[in-house]
Amino acid sequence: MKAIVWTAYGPPDVLKLQDMPKPTPKDNEILIKIHATTVTAGDCEMRRLDFPYWVRLPMRIFVGFWKPQRIKIPGLYLAGEVEETGSAVSRFQKGDQLFGLAGLRMGTYAEYVCVPEKGALATKPANMTFGEAAPVALGGLEALHFLRKANLQPGEKVLINGAAGSIGTYGIQLAHYFGAHVTAVDSTDKLDTLRATGADKVIDYTQADFTQLGDTYDVIFDVIGKSSFSRSVRILNPHGRYLIANPSGLIQRMRGEWVSARSSKSVIFEMTSHRAADLDFLRTLIEAGDLKTVMGRQFPLAQMADAHRHVESGQKVGNVIITVDHPNQR
Ligand SMILES: NC(=O)c1ccc[n+]([C@@H]2O[C@H](COP(=O)([O-])OP(=O)(O)OC[C@H]3O[C@@H](n4cnc5c(N)ncnc54)[C@H](OP(=O)(O)O)[C@@H]3O)[C@@H](O)[C@H]2O)c1
Repeated sequence: MKAIVWTAYGPPDVLKLQDMPKPTPKDNEILIKIHATTVTAGDCEMRRLDFPYWVRLPMRIFVGFWKPQRIKIPGLYLAGEVEETGSAVSRFQKGDQLFGLAGLRMGTYAEYVCVPEKGALATKPANMTFGEAAPVALGGLEALHFLRKANLQPGEKVLINGAAGSIGTYGIQLAHYFGAHVTAVDSTDKLDTLRATGADKVIDYTQADFTQLGDTYDVIFDVIGKSSFSRSVRILNPHGRYLIANPSGLIQRMRGEWVSARSSKSVIFEMTSHRAADLDFLRTLIEAGDLKTVMGRQFPLAQMADAHRHVESGQKVGNVIITVDHPNQR
């Protein structure tokens, strides 16, 4: 099969299109024929090994100390169909159309991947293409996880910082679904997308600092971890929640613990759990017309390095989709 092989830590060109053996499912696994995947900001951080120092060492131990030798094919998110099932698999059958995540060994930058049947996989929404469905397991699950942690209530005011990306565009729609008033912050060219996605109010971070505008919020969801910690906490209403999807370091975490312990406000840092039940919940919203994927640029698998360059250029809006053709089978 064709796959993108991660040959070193570094720039996008370390991602090479190569022929790799088609995987064979173990007894408890399914072989998925991938039709689409996505490239995320997190994929680029991982490719570069661009993490805070306290994450970098465990990542090197997990992925490979000098080069990524334990994960050959990156990519976590997928939409595709079951091609083959292991002998002990009962949850899925050949031909099922699924969306979700690969396992810890990843591998969705490829034509095929094997995933344990108990993994975070669910039936693809009937009203979505494979391309639309693939990024839901990233931005949809992340946004759902954080907004649930915040226990967002109808009528509350939420601000989403870095709102035009994958997590933010699903976050705007989910916050609306939970009945909140949504303020979305991003750069100038992306404000129309924020409005079209359902933001009640938009702020251009290149023109204004949302912490200095005199507004207060019940929830601040900082997707990219670039807001000022102390000023954001200050503009939270009593019992307000500050959600940080990308914490910058241990000091920030300690300050968060201090705020949560000493006031009615709370600071929430989280790694998202990936659960099939949450994908099922998102599918019901999608099929009811309450949640859509904001489609950015699309690239074929062979142009993965270009897709990474595009994500790193800052021009990405919504989700970057990688389409995976299977030319030999047509
Ligand atoms: N906690 C977890 O479990 C978890 C899981 C996955 C990902 N993450 C984190 O989530 C982040 C990626 O989210 P994503 O994929 O939704 O990101 P994304 O698609 O790259 O979107 C981020 C948006 O933030 C905007 N932005 C940049 N600087 C900004 C600033 N100073 N103020 C406001 N907006 C700004 C960017 O626009 P411009 O470029 O035009 O400025 C872009 O539109 C990554 O940092 C990743 O580490 C966390």
